[in-house]
Amino acid sequence: MKMFIAGAAGRVAEELIADLIEDGHEVLAGARSPEKIKTGVKITPVHFDLHWEVAEMAAALADAEVVYFVAGSRGQDLLQTDLFGAVKLMQAAETQGIKRYIQLSSTYSMEPEKWRGTGLEKIMNYNIAKMFADHWLIDNTQLDYTILQPGSLEETTATGKISVNSGAMGLNPIPDVAKTLAELLKYPNTIKKVISMMGGSDEIDEALKSV
Ligand SMILES: NC(=O)c1ccc[n+]([C@@H]2O[C@H](COP(=O)([O-])OP(=O)(O)OC[C@H]3O[C@@H](n4cnc5c(N)ncnc54)[C@H](OP(=O)(O)O)[C@@H]3O)[C@@H](O)[C@H]2O)c1
Repeated sequence: MKMFIAGAAGRVAEELIADLIEDGHEVLAGARSPEKIKTGVKITPVHFDLHWEVAEMAAALADAEVVYFVAGSRGQDLLQTDLFGAVKLMQAAETQGIKRYIQLSSTYSMEPEKWRGTGLEKIMNYNIAKMFADHWLIDNTQLDYTILQPGSLEETTATGKISVNSGAMGLNPIPDVAKTLAELLKYPNTIKKVISMMGGSDEIDEALKSV
C-alpha cells in the first residue's frame, strides 16, 4: 500500500518509514525540508507543511491509501502544528477519500484528570493540543482511525516488546513505537481504537491482537 507520513523527518518517522518499506509498502514522506529524507527505491520525499490549507495538504496526499500523523512542534507551535495542523490533515485525508488514519499521540492525552501529579503538568499546553486533536479525530471524522499513545520516547534500541492499555505511563524505545505504528496496519481490530503503550513483556503483534 501507499502511505503518507506527516512529519517524515522526525525520529519516529525515520524508523517507521524503514519498517513500512521492509513490509513492502510505498511511502510518500511529507516534510517541511524534503531534502532531509533518506531516499530509497519506494520512498518519495514530498514537500509538506502543517501550516498549509486543507486543499494544499490534500494535493500532497495524492494517491496515498493510509495517512500517518507523526509530526509535532516540540512545544514551539502547538496550536498551528500539533492541533490545527493535525485537524486539517484529517480533513485533507477525507477530501481524498482516504479511510485509514493513524495518529501518534501520548499517554493520558484524553484523560486530563491524570495530568497533575504524573509529571505531565509540565507540558500542559502540549497535552491540551493532543487532547483536542484526538477528540477531533474520534468525534468529527468518519476515518478508520487508530490513536497510539506512548509515554516518553527514548533513543534506545528496540526490544520488540510492549505493554498496551495497562493504565500506566512508561518509557518507550523509539524503534518499538515505530514498529507498533507499522504493525497496526495488520490488525483491523485496532480500527476506531485508542491504544496506550509503554515498554513491556508482550510481543508487539500479540499485544495488538489483544486490543
Ligand atoms: N518526545 C516524547 O517523549 C513523546 C512522547 C509521546 C508522544 N510524542 C509524540 O511523538 C511525536 C513524534 O516524536 P519525534 O521524537 O519523532 O518528534 P521529532 O523528531 O521532533 O519529529 C517531529 C517532526 O514534525 C515535523 N514538523 C514540525 N512542525 C511541522 C509543520 N508545521 N509541518 C510539517 N511537519 C512539521 C518536524 O519537521 P522538521 O524536521 O522540519 O522540524 C519533525 O520532523 C511528537 O511530536 C509527539 O507529539 C512524543
